[in-house]
Amino acid sequence: MHEGFTLWFTGLSGSGKTTLAMAIERELRVRGTWHVQRLDGDVIREDLTRDLGFSKEDRDENIRRVTFVAELLSKNGVATTCSFISPYREARATARERCYNFIEVYTECPLETLIERDPKGMYKKALAGEITGFTGIDDPYEEPETPEIVVHTGQETVEESANVILLYLEEKGFISESDLMPQEMVAASATTR
Ligand code: ADX
Repeated sequence: MHEGFTLWFTGLSGSGKTTLAMAIERELRVRGTWHVQRLDGDVIREDLTRDLGFSKEDRDENIRRVTFVAELLSKNGVATTCSFISPYREARATARERCYNFIEVYTECPLETLIERDPKGMYKKALAGEITGFTGIDDPYEEPETPEIVVHTGQETVEESANVILLYLEEKGFISESDLMPQEMVAASATTR
């Protein structure tokens, strides 16, 4: 049985927060950590925080509610991942204080690369003025000052960034080599689910 923790991804839209959280979730399960919960901005905003927009007040309220959920989960042994732009340092500092074993992961990516990739087409709209108050374009993003982990998603592959995070989790004892599920069990669970 392992301790819970909160892996908090922060970074601009499209910087890889969700992709990495999904990769980590998969790997944790493969390694036998079954109590994993992923909290994702796009998903949470359709339900728990669907009444909120993108003003500073609303973003702070979004993060406040998510912090409450992540606190409950992480204190009860759940490996919790949170993927939210969470642009404000103060809101992240509160999350750090309240969540158990808080690990801040900054998904750093140059704005030019994000504008180039733009999978949701939102940067295009923001640059055209069709969306206002878009983080990184005409709304602030306060970079983390001392995150536990920085991944450079403009340069690294998903696997490379995920490995940096997994190595950190191993070093801190949140997962261990001995948790590795035998290959035949991984194969078996893949065929039954
Ligand atoms: S946060 O700022 O409150 O942490 P959150 O991570 O929940 O944001 O949601 C960000 C997602 O909302 C983005 O990935 C994007 O799809 C969508 N979105 C819509 N409007 C905006 C906006 N003005 N700024 C940033 N993201 C927006």
